[in-house]
Amino acid sequence: GWALFEPVRRNSRGYDLGDPGVPEALVAAIGAARRSDRIAAPIVGGVARDGQAEPVHNPATGALVGQVVEADAAAVADAVATARAAQGNWSLAGGAFRAERLERAADLLEERDATFLGLAIDEAGKTLADAVAEVREAVDFLRYYAAQARADFTCPVALPGPTGERNELMLEGKGVFACISPWNFPLAIFLGQVSAALAAGNAVLAKPAEQTPLIAHAAVELLLEAGIPGDVLHYLPGRGETVGAALTSDPDIIGVAFTGSTEVARMINRSLAGRDGPIATLIAETGGANAMIVDSTALPEQVARDAVASAFQSAGQRCSALRLLCVQEDVAEGMIEMVAGAMAELNIGDPAILATDVGPIIDAEAQANIAAYVAEARAAGRVIAEAGRANLPADGHFVPPVLIRLDHVTDLRREIFGPVLHVATWKGGELDALIDAINASGYGLTLGVHTRIDGVAAHVAARAQVGNVYVNRNQIGAIVGSQPFGGRGLSGTGPKAGGPHYLLRFAEEKTISTDI
Ligand code: NAD
Ligand code: ALA
Repeated sequence: GWALFEPVRRNSRGYDLGDPGVPEALVAAIGAARRSDRIAAPIVGGVARDGQAEPVHNPATGALVGQVVEADAAAVADAVATARAAQGNWSLAGGAFRAERLERAADLLEERDATFLGLAIDEAGKTLADAVAEVREAVDFLRYYAAQARADFTCPVALPGPTGERNELMLEGKGVFACISPWNFPLAIFLGQVSAALAAGNAVLAKPAEQTPLIAHAAVELLLEAGIPGDVLHYLPGRGETVGAALTSDPDIIGVAFTGSTEVARMINRSLAGRDGPIATLIAETGGANAMIVDSTALPEQVARDAVASAFQSAGQRCSALRLLCVQEDVAEGMIEMVAGAMAELNIGDPAILATDVGPIIDAEAQANIAAYVAEARAAGRVIAEAGRANLPADGHFVPPVLIRLDHVTDLRREIFGPVLHVATWKGGELDALIDAINASGYGLTLGVHTRIDGVAAHVAARAQVGNVYVNRNQIGAIVGSQPFGGRGLSGTGPKAGGPHYLLRFAEEKTISTDI
């Protein structure tokens, strides 16, 4: 049956940035594709809408990247009505029809990757390595969900008919989905949500994060060019409290695919519950307070490498990022020293510079919040290491990576969405108490474990109440089709993006029984 179906597909090759000449060639291609006259205006029914354009700035340099026009109430209402009218035929067109278009979009995205790499760097503050991973993941989502649509949404599945009738089970689209995405994966998560909803036969209203409308706009233009009908896919940029709230309170929306903070997921849940219309589906992928458990058998160099990558890559602005390093007491001193040493090697600055390891915080507000948290920890004497080699542009939003000591693992109870790593120790013999304390946070996204004892790794993996466990490696960068990604509890409603069951959450099942 489809529940365990593994689609035939290939993952995007991306680029090997260790290959001599590759980064320089990419930088040249990105430079050639760069322009600052883009306007991310709403697209409703395949047509751009006018309105007041606002500037979008590069978070590292303050430079103008382009402009955005917020969708007004009329644009939202028109998009909902058009999508509703178009969805039935889109669903009836079948999985193979939809898959062809999504695969064409994947091919176009690979061909034109310089534009998208440049926007990921300029608009979202990504390093080149992060931007390459971002585009690759987006391509993978398109092909993965396309393959699944072709396999599971094309023909009904025959079921037994012991009393003589023919029984079939089929999948079809639910209706109109609102896809509401965050700025930290402005292409991969944006396109992941949109392509899943489309693949399953839904019409889509796509609302990108306020901070990153331009890359999402370019992605929607590409999907339309690839043959997704303009009445099926609509682009509605704007603020969460206006455009987002209008979508989630509309009784014609059958489902919301949301990725973002736990707090906003709760608001959307309340909005969907309080409106008229059908009982809506909410697919929410939210934040984390992710830990890494290190026991005394772990290899210190490997722990330092993986902890620093997990905590500080993307300036810690990943839901999967490591927030709490839990080191067994007897090896803690050496381990912390090694982590601090690795932190001191990090280059912080403009991600357009190839040597940069840690780029900017997304905006001034986020930077101020993280900086205030770090200042409080510093005043309490808890900051034990700070990176690194800074070469900061004057107008950017930066926070240098820090390591903060906690007395106990339970002292971290919320997500700090930036380059802030906490460290706490635990006593040998108290592993179960440690796992229970981590579980008690209520978050359940990623958990790392470093140990040379297989039984310890298996024990931790079995008891951890999280969506993704990583053993003896870093805990970021899930690969579509290999590491289905998503959390539980405060971290989300559970379906795993890039996994074999994700599309089912966007679909209705229908049973047809025919007397023969
Ligand atoms: P956010 O919750 O502030 O915003 C996310 C989206 O929700 C944006 O498009 C925003 O405009 C919209 N929004 C805000 N208020 C709304 C409302 N009232 N109604 C409808 N929509 C509304 O999150 P963010 O700052 O963009 O992203 C960072 C957060 O995302 C972090 O908490 C991070 O952990 C989480 N995240 C989770 C995953 C995952 O897969 N679990 C992946 C990436 C990011
Ligand atoms: N899927 C992203 C990661 O694994 C969030 O880091």
